[in-house]
Amino acid sequence: MTKRVFLLTVVLSLAALPRIAGAQATGSPMKIGMVGAGRESGALGALFVKAGHPVMFSSRNPENLKSLVAGLGPLAQAGTVAEAIAFGDVVLIVIPYAAMEQIGQAHAGALAQKVLVMDVSNPIARRDGEDFVKSVGAQGGPGLMTAKFLPGARVVRAFNAIGAGRLAELAQRAGNPVGVPIAGDDSQAIAVAQSLIREIGFEPVLVGGLDKGKYLVPGTPLAGEHTPAEIRQIAGGLQ
Ligand SMILES: NC(=O)c1ccc[n+]([C@@H]2O[C@H](COP(=O)([O-])OP(=O)(O)OC[C@H]3O[C@@H](n4cnc5c(N)ncnc54)[C@H](OP(=O)(O)O)[C@@H]3O)[C@@H](O)[C@H]2O)c1
Repeated sequence: MTKRVFLLTVVLSLAALPRIAGAQATGSPMKIGMVGAGRESGALGALFVKAGHPVMFSSRNPENLKSLVAGLGPLAQAGTVAEAIAFGDVVLIVIPYAAMEQIGQAHAGALAQKVLVMDVSNPIARRDGEDFVKSVGAQGGPGLMTAKFLPGARVVRAFNAIGAGRLAELAQRAGNPVGVPIAGDDSQAIAVAQSLIREIGFEPVLVGGLDKGKYLVPGTPLAGEHTPAEIRQIAGGLQ
């Protein structure tokens, strides 16, 4: 590729992003691809469908998702992981964190084209292994590791430590929204994440860059259900 063609490609790619973010700002539907269709993915995807967004859930065995999508109506569908990533303007990754590297190896190129990749996944010792969790911590924690596994992707961590079973009840809490701490480095991706989070009835609170993603895991002070003001206060005390 010549330097001129390269520069033109960069300019055209950047020009496309605000249009997608702008469409969301007007409340128009965004296609959402879900990598994973387990407890947290099912609960979040249901909220996006309720807000009017087409959602494709994915599994390595998508035929197992028939009852999930049938229960959510015509905006929900099921596919393979590759199909869900291709489908989404926005992609949520909601899988055991130990599988993130493999997702990157297979799909990093496609994920780098998305306006937002929301990382909802966490390294958890009892599921992913003590050594794996230590190695993620030694490399800066989830957030920085996700960016490493998915080079070029516009990653924002969100919803990492609000239980799947609580999401539907907590969404749209009148007058007193539940806060969702988020962490990311890309301002456009952060804006899209904030918009989507508000649409499904929560208040996003940016706690910092992806280096702060390590604080967005279960068992840390930001985990669980907090008001936006509480999140700001807790986040203010983090290093
Ligand atoms: N559950 C919660 O309350 C909660 C809350 C916040 C964050 N989280 C985080 O969300 C993530 C998922 O948790 P969960 O409770 O929803 O788990 P889950 O119910 O066990 O679902 C896991 C999902 O990951 C998929 N998956 C596993 N390995 C995969 C791979 N190699 N490639 C593609 N997909 C793969 C599974 O799909 P297959 O059908 O292909 O097996 C399944 O849909 C975890 O990192 C967890 O820490 C969970």
